[in-house]
Amino acid sequence: MGKKGRVLIIDDDPKILELLSKALKDNYSVFSSLTGSGGLEIFKNEILDAALVDIKLPDMDGLDVLVDIKKTIPDFPVIIITGHASIPLAVKAMKLGAFYFVKKPFELEEITSLLDKAIEHSRLLRDYRRLQNIASEKYSFSGIIGRSKKMKEIFEIIKLVASTDVTVLIEGESGTGKELVAKAIHVNSPRKDKNFVPVNCSALPETLLESELFGYKKGAFTGAATSKPGLFEEADGGTLFLDEIGSTSPAFQSKLLRVLEDGMFYHLGSTKPVKVDVRIIAATNVSLEEAVQKNLFREDLFYRLNVVKLRLPPLRERRNDIPLLVNHFLKYYANKHNKNIKGVSDKALALLVNYHWPGNVRELENVIERAVILTTTDTIDEHLLPDKMYRADITLSETEIMNYKKAKEIFERNYLTNLLRHTKGNVSLAARIAGQRRQNLYIKFKYLGINPKDFI
Ligand SMILES: Nc1ncnc2c1ncn2[C@@H]1O[C@H](COP(=O)(O)OP(=O)(O)OP(=O)(O)O)[C@@H](O)[C@H]1O
Ligand SMILES: [Mg+2]
Repeated sequence: MGKKGRVLIIDDDPKILELLSKALKDNYSVFSSLTGSGGLEIFKNEILDAALVDIKLPDMDGLDVLVDIKKTIPDFPVIIITGHASIPLAVKAMKLGAFYFVKKPFELEEITSLLDKAIEHSRLLRDYRRLQNIASEKYSFSGIIGRSKKMKEIFEIIKLVASTDVTVLIEGESGTGKELVAKAIHVNSPRKDKNFVPVNCSALPETLLESELFGYKKGAFTGAATSKPGLFEEADGGTLFLDEIGSTSPAFQSKLLRVLEDGMFYHLGSTKPVKVDVRIIAATNVSLEEAVQKNLFREDLFYRLNVVKLRLPPLRERRNDIPLLVNHFLKYYANKHNKNIKGVSDKALALLVNYHWPGNVRELENVIERAVILTTTDTIDEHLLPDKMYRADITLSETEIMNYKKAKEIFERNYLTNLLRHTKGNVSLAARIAGQRRQNLYIKFKYLGINPKDFI
């Protein structure tokens, strides 16, 4: 297997240097130096992805090494290591742009996981610069932007299934592009000249959903003053997209199953069968398999829908699509809002790339549009991004398993920034809501490098 990246280690303790070099050399190309100046020399001459820098060095302060590195390459991730951890020192390092701050003794796993994040981060930033001049259309399929391995696989499956009539089940978190993919299947299929009819199964009460889908005969129920064809008929020859199928009731599911099996249905209040030729694509943001196990979803319908399953990965599992999407939405919204925008600042990009995006591409799109509207210059600066993204540390996804202390720290930072945003920086009020003493909160703010004044 190839190396994951090129790493520089600067530490005055030969034992630590040796230990780290040995432990890392299988997976990384390791460069090391016992002095700050020696390390900076290597930094000048080599192309590197990340650095681990001890604070106490014989010839200079590790923080000055950090500053020097940042002057040359502002994006470059530097992980600071120290034996004498103090909170003000950690805060200072983060303020100077350190990627992370690690206390000795550390666990090797902690170092490698940080290095992997730092390397990925470096690569993504480099990518962004390179991609800025390339049209995002080059990396897209039917309007779906992506260049990650996972998205390329999705493009291939779309091409394969589009030419057939097979039922497709699309699974993915909210905002991952399920509807976009369903449309792409339709427009690349022989049905493209007929209708693509989306139905959000969770938006309507079930009786209404049924009358929408199947249509009704005049007088079928109170208020049915005229007959109305159903969406199944509207989609005849085309594609019906059943969105949020997981939220329907078993009773509705059996009715749907019957239509799918027989290829025909009845208008409500009518006994005359209606025959249609409809391709079905269904989408869900909950796992239907689990719903089946919990008896919330009919197994027979599940098998009927799940002929081909497409799982759309959340954005945080394909971070290398982020720079591309940022560029794409930036161009789109700059144009839409008549603004001349060159790009995003390094810091802003770093935040965008590291955020865990619970709302996926839709959330990213909204964040970019908002920033485009708010900016008064030709660059998107980090202060135009929502506070929740504006943190000194790398953001880890909620599902990531990590050291307990670190998880707690991330929770606290999240909680406290939300709280301060809510109280607009009022610490007394924050303390009252949290049921904590004010002094206690101040200690936490100091430790986490949070300034309540930033929220006023
Ligand atoms: N890969 C992508 N490239 C470009 N735009 C995308 C991509 N994925 C999603 N989008 C955009 O993000 C927004 C949300 O996408 P979409 O509505 O398809 O998501 P969804 O999975 O159906 O979400 P929900 O479950 O909330 O309905 C849309 O504006 C869509 O155009
Ligand atoms: Mg949707």
